[in-house]
Amino acid sequence: MHPSGAPGEARRRRSYTPEGLFVITGPGESYGKGSAWVLGDEHGYVQAVLLRDSRAIRPDTLYIENVEVKPDCRGSGHGRALYLKAERFAENIGAEWIQIDSEAEAVGFWSEMGFTETGKVFYAGKTSMVKKIG
Ligand SMILES: CC(C)(COP(=O)(O)OP(=O)(O)OC[C@H]1O[C@@H](n2cnc3c(N)ncnc32)[C@H](O)[C@@H]1OP(=O)(O)O)[C@@H](O)C(=O)NCCC(=O)NCCS
Repeated sequence: MHPSGAPGEARRRRSYTPEGLFVITGPGESYGKGSAWVLGDEHGYVQAVLLRDSRAIRPDTLYIENVEVKPDCRGSGHGRALYLKAERFAENIGAEWIQIDSEAEAVGFWSEMGFTETGKVFYAGKTSMVKKIG
């Protein structure tokens, strides 16, 4: 057996990824404003980018582009678990805010995760929401 676990596992870990979260694509240890990741656990994935300050409502914002739990795994707490890992990831990379543009059907999920509406519209039909972290 590979000394550090399954082959490829090391490639999918970063010092700043919390337990149970893997980097599917993304930078190595030297990331910065503009860096983007696809992160995953066994039930779903998160796409996120550390915004450049000029694109953020506030500096140090991790913008979540999408969160998706496998269809047959939804409604069992896996979305919350995945989100909490993404929030820890955001803290670990020094973000202070998480921002999203939610699909109408998912606004209730983001409210449950502690997000509030910003009142701004960045994409027609989507709801801009933000959460202070850390
Ligand atoms: C949104 C999504 C990630 C939620 O994942 P999930 O595993 O079903 O969510 P959970 O079971 O962890 O739910 C966590 C809490 O949010 C609530 N919730 C989940 N989805 C919700 C929704 N669409 N509307 C309102 N509340 C919702 C749950 O009731 C639960 O609350 P509780 O703990 O008080 O019971 C999942 O449904 C999904 O992948 N949807 C398709 C993609 C999508 O819409 N992504 C978001 C894009 S903005």
